[in-house]
Amino acid sequence: MPHRFAAALAAAGLVTAIAATPASAHPGPHHDKTLGELAAASHRYLGSATDNPEFSDAAYLKILGSEFNSTTAGNALKWYATEPQQGVFDFTQGDQVLDFARKHHMSFRAHTLVWHNQLPDWLNNGTFTADQLRAILKNHILTEARHYRGKVYSWDVVNEAFNEDGTYRDTIFYRTLGPGYIADALRWAREADPHAKLYLNDYNLEAIGPKSDAYYTLVKQLKAQGVPIDGVGFQGHLALQYGYPDTLQQNLQRFADLGLDVAITELDIRMYVPADEAKLATQADWYARVTKACLAVRRCVGITIWDYTDKYSWIPAVFQGEGAALPYDENLQPKPAYDAIRDALRDAGRPGRH
Ligand code: XIL
Repeated sequence: MPHRFAAALAAAGLVTAIAATPASAHPGPHHDKTLGELAAASHRYLGSATDNPEFSDAAYLKILGSEFNSTTAGNALKWYATEPQQGVFDFTQGDQVLDFARKHHMSFRAHTLVWHNQLPDWLNNGTFTADQLRAILKNHILTEARHYRGKVYSWDVVNEAFNEDGTYRDTIFYRTLGPGYIADALRWAREADPHAKLYLNDYNLEAIGPKSDAYYTLVKQLKAQGVPIDGVGFQGHLALQYGYPDTLQQNLQRFADLGLDVAITELDIRMYVPADEAKLATQADWYARVTKACLAVRRCVGITIWDYTDKYSWIPAVFQGEGAALPYDENLQPKPAYDAIRDALRDAGRPGRH
């Protein structure tokens, strides 16, 4: 069983080195096959983000390392963490998450090189000419992506570059460098790590609309210009009160048809708390629908949930009165959403289904 799992991951190109693992190293807590194993059988990954403070929680880590076959650092690779002072780099936290991933034979999505949030003060508060900022951006990307060269499956090179109406987001990079910063960032990332899959990543991209249309136009142009771009990441921060994005599968497919990989990169499905049975049932249905949408698109390589337990979800701190967004509750017990994802993956893995 673990060998089949490892072979499927290798076939999907998600890991470079596979070590034989005793069967006991991958016990599903509630079922004999884990989400990761089921996803791997369909040549996908099912991952969870994690964050360094959580590394003191042994019960949490046990599930993270056994149930999922991919992970990403929720914060550790962001600019404030990796270049806290100009030209001074610190990869301690990112390395901690990556080491965990490697020990548990998980693929690793690296997040993120260029973003307007969680920038260090020196960058936020500084005044830079275009030439200076271009040099800063280039050095940041080359240094960070070189540090992780050959060790990560993918990079979210630019995160959240567009507004809801499809115009460019007014960030320090856009303001100072113009829209060409995106192509530059992708080229520098490729130079630094020729094998990592290079992604643009954003939220509210799930449905067809002005924002996803803007990405569609941009990635088409980038490809036509020979700019290295491998994938588009759909964050998937969904909320019950806004309705399910019905065009998700069709949207994933149109990007895939451009010759790109697609992935659901930060999935969580929040609700107003307290949760109740009906809301949790709808949430479970949505998790299943997202999973099925990815499985129905050949180039949808996998799904990452934005941590797996409500114990460590970012939602309550950011969206007042909302929460309960993840497939495990605050006591690390699986919710209906867990079974829904599992069932969707298992159905897809049945012979004759793909
Ligand atoms: C979030 C983290 O989970 C939080 O811990 C942090 O305080 C803020 O950022 N879109 C992204 C992620 O691309 O990087 C964000 O992560 C969530 C929204």
